[in-house]
Amino acid sequence: MNYAGRYPAARPRRLRQAEWVRRLVREHRLSTDDLIWAMVVHDGTEDEIPIAAMPGVARLSVKAAAKAAKQAASLGIPAIAVFPHINATKKDAAGKEALNPNGLVCTAVRAMKDAAPEIGLVVDVALDPFTDHGHDGLLKDGRILNDETVKVLTEQALIQVKAGADIVAPSDMMDGRVGLIRTTLDQNGCHDALIMSYAAKYASGFYGPYREAIGSAKLGGGSVENPGDKRTYQMDFGNTDEALREVALDIAEGADMLLIKPGLPYLDIVRRVKDAFALPTFAFQVSGEYAMIKAGGANGWIDEERVMIESLTAFRRAGADGVVTYFAPKVAEVLGGA
Ligand code: PBG
Repeated sequence: MNYAGRYPAARPRRLRQAEWVRRLVREHRLSTDDLIWAMVVHDGTEDEIPIAAMPGVARLSVKAAAKAAKQAASLGIPAIAVFPHINATKKDAAGKEALNPNGLVCTAVRAMKDAAPEIGLVVDVALDPFTDHGHDGLLKDGRILNDETVKVLTEQALIQVKAGADIVAPSDMMDGRVGLIRTTLDQNGCHDALIMSYAAKYASGFYGPYREAIGSAKLGGGSVENPGDKRTYQMDFGNTDEALREVALDIAEGADMLLIKPGLPYLDIVRRVKDAFALPTFAFQVSGEYAMIKAGGANGWIDEERVMIESLTAFRRAGADGVVTYFAPKVAEVLGGA
């Protein structure tokens, strides 16, 4: 009997016996280079307004966001994704405030670029922070209007790029928006603006705390004005082939980078997409994932810091090039900064 390659000759535990050898043979590791810091900004003067459902995350004033951009630079975090909490008085059914070149998003982008020009700025393209009904698109008779919404999103993206956004990230899941955004940016001389498409975004319960973070409607309604959740445009969580189709379409329309969302429960999608298309592929560790880790940690049920690093490394293992996460500054500190 030849024992070579089998127990007792083979003992995989030899490779785990000490930290030096574990480090040596480790296949995937998390680096500060992989982080996009998810940051919420508000249009008031208070520096920080805590978000109850997301302990440790606060809505930042424009001034505080500029300071945070500098902090990101000194921590070695490459990019920040900005999400706005708009004052309720500025919201309407059409989300018109999304097109205000002097609105919160553009003002924050300018201030952050000013403070830390070396940081990449990612801005969401979608209407939900600006609509009083909380949907990502225009609503008529209880239906989301695709093509009309795409026109508005295209304008929104152009305004954001003109304010200094480096990456526009359509998160709305309307059909055809990447193509129209790309064409419009190019026609306006913005060839260098990148598009990170939320290519496969699922209708998910994990976005819960984000509603509080940006102060958007709960979508519980089910009335004509408020038809409930986002399942007519975000993907059904039972599907994976559909994700590949969504991604293929967005690439054909000009997406430079892809985003899969939510994160941890969708690692299979990250893997399939990365294997099939080999484009820069990111995952979004969304608000609910953040909240669960914080809650478990606060109760002493899990070691928060350990689970934070473990879950983020899992994204790398699944093939993600990087992760959008509210934990970014904490992670950068744990990993030792730049
Ligand atoms: C909106 C948008 C959402 C998130 C990012 N952009 C919410 C949604 O689609 O309902 C979620 C972020 C998070 O939960 O952390 N287009």
